Amino acid sequence: MATAKSHLLLVWLLLAATATPAVVGEKGRDDGDGENVKRTFPAGFMFGTATAAYQVEGAWNEDGKGENIWDHMVHEHPEYIRDNATGDIADDSYHKYEEDVRLLAELGSDFYRFSISWARILPKGDLSQINQLGLNYYDNLINELLDKGIEPLVTMYHWDLPQALQELGGWPNPILVDYFEDYARLLIESYGDRVKHWITFNEPLEFTMGYAKEAYMPPSINKPGVGDYLATHTVLLAHARVYHMYDTEYRPTQQGNISITLNTDWVEPASDSPEDIAAQDRMLQFNFGWFAHPIFSEEGDYPQVMRERVAANSEAEGLPRSRLPTFTPEEVAFIRGSSDFLGLNHYTTSIATSGEEGPNPSRDRDRGSVGCQDPTWPTSASSWLKVAPWGFRKLLNWLHKEYNGVTIMVTENGFSDSGELNDAGRENYYKTYINALWEAIMIDGVNVFAYAAWSALDNFEWTRGYAERFGIYHVNYDDPNLTRTPKSSAQLLKSIFTEKMVEKVETPSEYSRSC
Ligand code: NOJ
Repeated sequence: MATAKSHLLLVWLLLAATATPAVVGEKGRDDGDGENVKRTFPAGFMFGTATAAYQVEGAWNEDGKGENIWDHMVHEHPEYIRDNATGDIADDSYHKYEEDVRLLAELGSDFYRFSISWARILPKGDLSQINQLGLNYYDNLINELLDKGIEPLVTMYHWDLPQALQELGGWPNPILVDYFEDYARLLIESYGDRVKHWITFNEPLEFTMGYAKEAYMPPSINKPGVGDYLATHTVLLAHARVYHMYDTEYRPTQQGNISITLNTDWVEPASDSPEDIAAQDRMLQFNFGWFAHPIFSEEGDYPQVMRERVAANSEAEGLPRSRLPTFTPEEVAFIRGSSDFLGLNHYTTSIATSGEEGPNPSRDRDRGSVGCQDPTWPTSASSWLKVAPWGFRKLLNWLHKEYNGVTIMVTENGFSDSGELNDAGRENYYKTYINALWEAIMIDGVNVFAYAAWSALDNFEWTRGYAERFGIYHVNYDDPNLTRTPKSSAQLLKSIFTEKMVEKVETPSEYSRSC
């Protein structure tokens, strides 16, 4: 049960949440002079870190947990994962959560974003079996966080569908809207007295690729330009269903917020030509507008450019209807506005030019723009992650304009290396990206109320295994105790999180954009 202290925290959080819009438009303030200018974040701004169940928990078959699609894929197809790694043990946070919460408290985190493993709670995916030990685990984790003054922020779905539901077809099957609602209701009933920020889905752009491509995401089904569109259609309806359930049945008493986390690179046009600018827009609409336009735009539905292009290509392929499914007008209205804020995961920037790439048919083809990155941009251990903080500021401004001043929580941002304790690359990344964030909020007036660093600790980086490390705390995988050690970036983030200030670093305005 919630403690008196946690009730006080909730009151504070509610005040902070309602205070959020007031920060918009405040003029930026640089404190200090000379070399060490500090940039102060608005009052009530929240800093925290994020993880996901499959990446940190381990205990994949303990205490009644059912199998999920990641368990299934890593065991059936070890060759899909670098070094044949699995999340069977991962960081063993299932057993070490108290230690992990202590580390989060040492970092001065205001909140912790973690996800719930659906199959740990509902081993068969549906309500036919409720695993009390699974429910207890998250109950304990939430209470432990609140005891340490850290707000729990819960992602309901971070890519680990119960295998039993995949056997029904997974996300392309619209019946999953009902199953997801049942699962979400159980979470809200169990934890909604203490959890005040919910995220329904994490990065549907990525996990729906499991129905479009092999060996990237489970269930690893190779149906590009069909499976991904069908899966997304269900996910958007499931999101809206749960939003409305919360809004009408639970918000009046629980007083929380519910949203979705979407991810995108910032996209630069390769040149200022009208063709490249149109290619940039298509890239943003096909990668982000696909999910954001139905929820956050005034008119709702998929972006027009997407509906038109997929319909035209489908017709040319001799199909009787578009590969992109259609929402009824009632569904458009049901999805539109179904979010209290926008959860944004952002890491890097890419460049778009007009052209064709990818298999035929596929979403890449339908999009008609080709992406690349400039090889001179500083890099990380992940081939896709180049350091371009100026792109973060540009993206935040684009979102502000495109979605009418939407309120944003940055639910992930971070940098990978090979696990060095002296992680200068990560320190530089956080310094520059948090400066770009500050500029977007305080100079440009973008509405951002919270920021989460990915990730609290090194973890299972999906098909990249443990080779690409994003942690602020190092995990020693050679040691059976999986010892955690703070990296140098932990010191930096602790000072940013506790002082709510970042040392000023100029965001470069000149950069090359050739591929
Ligand atoms: C986004 C995903 O949500 C997270 O699971 C992943 O580890 C990070 N990006 C880094 O790739």
